[in-house]
Amino acid sequence: MLKLMKALVSTIATSGMLASFAFVSSVSADEYFTITNGELERPKGYREWVYVGTPVTPNDMNNGKAAFPEHHNVYMDPGSWAHWKKTGEFRDGTILMKELVSVGSKGAVSGNGYFQGDYIGLEATIKSTKHFPKEPGNWAYFSFSSKDHKTVNETATPFATASCNTCHENAAADDFVFTQYYPVLRAGKGTGEEASGGHLSTLKNSYSVPKGN
Ligand code: HEC
Repeated sequence: MLKLMKALVSTIATSGMLASFAFVSSVSADEYFTITNGELERPKGYREWVYVGTPVTPNDMNNGKAAFPEHHNVYMDPGSWAHWKKTGEFRDGTILMKELVSVGSKGAVSGNGYFQGDYIGLEATIKSTKHFPKEPGNWAYFSFSSKDHKTVNETATPFATASCNTCHENAAADDFVFTQYYPVLRAGKGTGEEASGGHLSTLKNSYSVPKGN
């Protein structure tokens, strides 16, 4: 019995355990995302995070080919939302998901407009001093969308700073995030429990027109 145990222990020590230690050191499971060897795994469950807004850049207003077609449903992880309500800042470890949805129809019984069709892509941005110490603002940008926007990839690597981060740094209203287009974030910034909706103070906030527009 003792002999068997010893053999077992030495087998685990030399093969399995060493391998699993090596594996653990390259995986970083943060609260709402996992980065393994520099690759972000496609996050799951974000449609149940906090919804912050839906910008829309329809193809027919962008020479038939919007850079990010077409509706962009944006969600923020709940831990970072709690921090935003309390402090009005994006915490270290914030993740925002932007899910692309086609224009499915341009008319409804309510009138003419742009109505959501099918899911056609998925992008993400993460603020992390640990993972992105050299990126401006510590924000990195990812895309899971396939080239033809017909499927999404399992993992994504960060884009070069000039591809995404630079425009966000220059044009976004609040710490690289386009809060000027997200009423939920604007109205809820640092307002504590009133951020949850229905309170007069935050209703007023969300109706104010952002600067520069
Ligand atoms: C020319 C400027 C510009 C560039 C370049 C750009 N973005 Fe953005 N991005 C925007 C604007 C404007 C919004 C908000 C409005 C919208 O979605 O249309 C936005 C919103 C986002 C959001 C939602 C969270 C947020 O920060 O507001 C994500 C995620 C995102 N972009 C990812 C990317 C990725 C990935 C790239 C690089 C492939 C990229 N962006 C390049 C302008 C840009």
